[in-house]
Amino acid sequence: MAVRKAVIPAAGLGTRCLPLTKALPKELLPIYNRPALEVIADEAVASGVDTLVLVTGRGKSAVEDHFDRSPYLESRLRNQPALSQSITRQTTMVNAVSVRQGEAKGLGHAVGCGEIAVGDESFAVMLPDDLIFGETPALRRLIEVHEATGKAVVLLMEVPWEQTRRYGVVDATPRDDGTFDIHAMVEKPSPEVAPSNLAIVGRYVFPSSIFKKIRNTGSGALGEIQLTDAMLSLAQEEGMIGVMLEGTRLDTGNPLGLLIAGMHYASQDPDVFAELKKAAEKLFS
Ligand code: G1P
Repeated sequence: MAVRKAVIPAAGLGTRCLPLTKALPKELLPIYNRPALEVIADEAVASGVDTLVLVTGRGKSAVEDHFDRSPYLESRLRNQPALSQSITRQTTMVNAVSVRQGEAKGLGHAVGCGEIAVGDESFAVMLPDDLIFGETPALRRLIEVHEATGKAVVLLMEVPWEQTRRYGVVDATPRDDGTFDIHAMVEKPSPEVAPSNLAIVGRYVFPSSIFKKIRNTGSGALGEIQLTDAMLSLAQEEGMIGVMLEGTRLDTGNPLGLLIAGMHYASQDPDVFAELKKAAEKLFS
């Protein structure tokens, strides 16, 4: 049940960030000084993952290039160890393979595309729009619960009721150890019909049986093959556990979210924080 692979859906068009994403993959937009996907890769590696399964599509080859060697740049940076390390670490810390999602048929479909690279083992799914900052890598906490129970595990976060229609929302009961038993879930419910205000955040650990569930899932909300629908069937048959978010979750799928995530990330460095604070005081006084 060890979890070594993380499927990262990265084929989306990034329409909420246009025109930034007209030619650039949204996964490579900057979080201060790093592409967003590299921050996700760091969390994966810190959680014990050794292989990223990038689910890409047309126009996303820069995502694959970012996790490839760059001999020309490397030779130019031979005498600059820090810069050189900043462009080689992506290939030394983790393996990356990519599969194509030929058509945008939904998150469930995207995860299903990863099957050919994952095979018959438990694996993680990380949504690159959800950046999570905290002391313990969020994915590691999920992997620990999966390794102890064998069940699917998802990250949960309490959201204001009026925001339930932005998320997959669960019906769950608390367990003694602070985790939750998930009985049901629904994708993007209005507050009137939401089973709770506990939303699914973009970190999941699944047994390989989720792939069969995805294959058996038809179009759901928005006419797409929804991961949430496949998860509902898995939860009912095999059980599913929810782990509450610890730390800060930031949505980088829109321009303001990107800016805030960049500032949050930059402010982890005390020197940068001091500069940022000075600049903000001047800008907003
Ligand atoms: C996706 C999932 C949803 C989840 C959300 C978390 O939605 O479908 O269940 O709550 O990510 O960010 P999206 O944001 O892609 O619409």
